[in-house]
Amino acid sequence: MKSVYIRGNASLYGEVTIQGSKNAALPIMAAALLVPGVCVLRNCPRIADVEYMCRILVSIGCRVDRKGREIRIDASGLTDGRLPKEYVTRMRSSVMLMGPLLGRIGEVSLNHPGGCVIGDRPIDLHIKALSRMGAACRDDGTGLTAVSGGLRGTSLRLDYPSVGATENVIMAAVMADGVTCLENCAQEPEIGWLCDFLIHCGASITRQGTGRLLIRGQRDLHPCIYTIPSDRIVAGTYLCACLAAGGEVLLKGAPEGENDALEGMAERMGAKLRRTGDALRVKRAGPLLSPGRVETGSFPAFPTDLQSPFLVAMAQAEGESSMRETVFNGRFGVVAELNRMGAGIEVEKDTARVPGGRRLTGRRVRAAELRGGAALVVAGLCAEGDTLVENRSYVDRGYEDICRDLRLLGACVQDG
Ligand code: EPZ
Repeated sequence: MKSVYIRGNASLYGEVTIQGSKNAALPIMAAALLVPGVCVLRNCPRIADVEYMCRILVSIGCRVDRKGREIRIDASGLTDGRLPKEYVTRMRSSVMLMGPLLGRIGEVSLNHPGGCVIGDRPIDLHIKALSRMGAACRDDGTGLTAVSGGLRGTSLRLDYPSVGATENVIMAAVMADGVTCLENCAQEPEIGWLCDFLIHCGASITRQGTGRLLIRGQRDLHPCIYTIPSDRIVAGTYLCACLAAGGEVLLKGAPEGENDALEGMAERMGAKLRRTGDALRVKRAGPLLSPGRVETGSFPAFPTDLQSPFLVAMAQAEGESSMRETVFNGRFGVVAELNRMGAGIEVEKDTARVPGGRRLTGRRVRAAELRGGAALVVAGLCAEGDTLVENRSYVDRGYEDICRDLRLLGACVQDG
């Protein structure tokens, strides 16, 4: 089992280029199913989830060629809507293939996407919305089949601004007959990037104010060449690392305007942030102040994906603080391992109380999911002594090479 070995007491000094965005690349790869012909996606991150998505696309009849960070997807030969169980259960985001497959070939079947340690992952919002657009969805207890003789545009409002459900509706609506008006949609930047890709392919999608999209159905999309934007969560993770460990780093390509909630918190804690061109310079030299109360939410609120790495910075800060997790009901799993390192965090329902001022102690710890694993690596940087983070494969699902990146920022980390 691969691991990460980290030498503690490491302030960070250096610069790193932020990889392409996992959560932009995956829906855009799914959207390529809507386009007969070869779409060329550049700056795709070399991570496990992108590899799984490539394999799924091949299994349903697409031609996929991958050279480094460039992926060419030809969906002309798309024939099959049956998603392979081994990937659906491993990668929950395969559910976002429902919309494009219903739109393109009128059928999709998949096993129930696995829940994971960050909490329940139902897909009721996806099913409700796609049903409203004319899909007939049947759940036989082990999996789901949906068919459609032709999706129809409609007006619908999501009960919760789900990222995945928003992406599914957008991709289905692009193929539907008529116009779809979607209300209370997610506003995460990845939604904007998906729309941008589809518009590059000839789709007609317009924002109609906050959380409201108008999508005109049409079936004649054309291939395009598209560059995946930088990953705001990877950039945010390294910002948390500099906050927690101290030092001065330059995050090249860190997306502007996509991490305002985190960046505001970092400045509240005493860090100095300065944007130079497409890079973000982060400096934390003095004491780390408590951020007070932090609460995750859908964009533009503080992102749930940075909750775990940010807990480490909170544990280093002088004074108590609290983190309320409002998106996933199981996203404090990493706290047990952080407490074995001395973080002293107490979780009560949806809120973690962080006493702060804790010197962490390096230990052998175990990752159980993606962002919690990244948080353990961040904790190892500021701990006394050495830390070994096991189950590094969870981290590799979202970070191209966290050891390479942190070494560029001056950390002493090894692939274990
Ligand atoms: C996307 O997941 C991201 N994944 C997640 O990132 C991210 O944490 C999440 O959005 C929230 O920002 C990708 O983009 C591949 P949701 P998604 O649907 O679409 C509930 C990472 O670490 N819900 O917005 O699955 C759900 O239970 C990953 O990179 C329903 O109740 O998230 C959760 O409480 C983790 N019914 C909330 O909505 C549904 O049908 C947010 O889920 C769908 C969701």
